[in-house]
Amino acid sequence: MAVNPNSHLIAIAGGKGGVGKSVFSANLAFAFLMEMRAPTLLIDLDSQSCGDQNVILGIREPKTMQDLCNFTGAISQQTLSAVVSNHPGTNLGYVAAVKNRDEMLTVSPELAAKKIEDLSNVYKFIIVDLGNSLTSLQMSTRKIDSAFDGHDS
Ligand SMILES: Nc1ncnc2c1ncn2[C@@H]1O[C@H](COP(=O)(O)OP(=O)(O)OP(=O)(O)O)[C@@H](O)[C@H]1O
Ligand SMILES: [Mg+2]
Repeated sequence: MAVNPNSHLIAIAGGKGGVGKSVFSANLAFAFLMEMRAPTLLIDLDSQSCGDQNVILGIREPKTMQDLCNFTGAISQQTLSAVVSNHPGTNLGYVAAVKNRDEMLTVSPELAAKKIEDLSNVYKFIIVDLGNSLTSLQMSTRKIDSAFDGHDS
């Protein structure tokens, strides 16, 4: 399994907190959605997220990385609503880090990378907000194989 060669995975990281990574990630995702007119997904993979991206998007009960990683079925257009939220008014897909500030993002890096690879079969652009604390979970996005050229994404 590898990232679909027709899909682009773009990860946003920053050296320190509060510099605008999440707002930039959201704007970049909307720009791809509108300019490219292609299915686009935004993932909040910031380990220190307390749901800030949920507030930026205005989504109250989003699907989270935990929901995505717990899903055991095959991810396809038909099953997408079980693992991805849709931004109201647009077709931007969204997977949150956490539902609210009481939760913490603690998913398996290997499983998360596998699920992102699965989602690349559905979404042409995947924007990932990594935050600024780069643990093995965030670094796992570097290890997602590209079936196209064999390079890191
Ligand atoms: N281009 C911008 N111009 C002015 N203010 C901005 C800009 N981008 C973000 N902000 C503001 O800066 C603050 C921090 O933005 P944001 O949450 O995107 O940063 P962050 O780097 O993701 O922070 P964190 O490290 O906490 O995740 C917010 O109040 C946001 O509204
Ligand atoms: Mg942020």
